[in-house]
Amino acid sequence: MKRFLVAIDGPAGAGKSTVARQVAKRLGLVYIDTGAMYRALAWKALRDNIPLQDEESVTRLAESLTFTLHPKGISINGQYLSHEIRTPEISAAASTIARMLGVRRVLVNKQREIAEKQNVVMDGRDIGTNVLPHADLKIFLTASIEERAKRRYNEMKAKGLPADLEQLKKEIRERDDQDRTREHAPLKQADDALLLDTTHRSIAEIVENILQLCRNKLSNR
Ligand code: DC
Repeated sequence: MKRFLVAIDGPAGAGKSTVARQVAKRLGLVYIDTGAMYRALAWKALRDNIPLQDEESVTRLAESLTFTLHPKGISINGQYLSHEIRTPEISAAASTIARMLGVRRVLVNKQREIAEKQNVVMDGRDIGTNVLPHADLKIFLTASIEERAKRRYNEMKAKGLPADLEQLKKEIRERDDQDRTREHAPLKQADDALLLDTTHRSIAEIVENILQLCRNKLSNR
C-alpha cells in the first residue's frame, strides 16, 4: 500500500518534536527527527575539528556517515548521541551547516530514503516544501517567541540546568532568522500546509487535532 507521510515544520521550540513523536506513537508510524541529523553532523564536524564554514569538508563528512534514528536519540556510524547534541552551541552550529547546499542534498536524500521504506511523521524546517512535497498531511506549527522561550526555560529548569529567559529568546530569534533567510530550502510554510498556533493551546489538544486530520486522510484513501 502507498506510504502514509506526515510533515511537521515550524520554527525552533514550537513543540514540533513532542507533537510529532506523540502523533507517530498513537498511529503506529515512525517518528523521524530531521533536526537531529543536522545536529549530529554539526557535533561530529566540531569533534573532528572541521571548520563549520568549509562546505566541501562538511559535505564529505555528511556523505561518510550512516545516520540511525532511535526513539530518543540518533547514532552516527554506530555512535549514540542524545543530550550532547541539544546544547545551545550545537543548535547554532546545526543551523549554520544547514545553510549549505551540499549538506542539504546529502541529508535530504537520506531522509527521502527513510520515508520510502516506512510510514513516517517527519519534523524539520523543509519537510513539506522540499523533502516530502507529496506528504499526505502537512502541518506548520508555530507559537509566539515569548511562549517558545518560556517553554525552553521551563524544560531547562525542570532538568536542573541554568537558564536565562532573555538569552533563550535571543538564541531562538537568531536561529529562526538564519533558518528563514537562508538561500536553500529556508524555513517556510508550504502552500498546502495547515498552520497551527500552539501559543494558547496545549500539546494534548494539538496532538488530538492532528490525529483527527490524519484519520480523515486515512479514511479517504
Ligand atoms: O529542529 P532542530 O532545532 O533540532 O534543528 C536544528 C537546526 O537544523 C535548525 O536550526 C535548522 C536545521 N534544520 C534544517 O535546516 N532542516 C530541517 N529539516 C531540520 C533542521
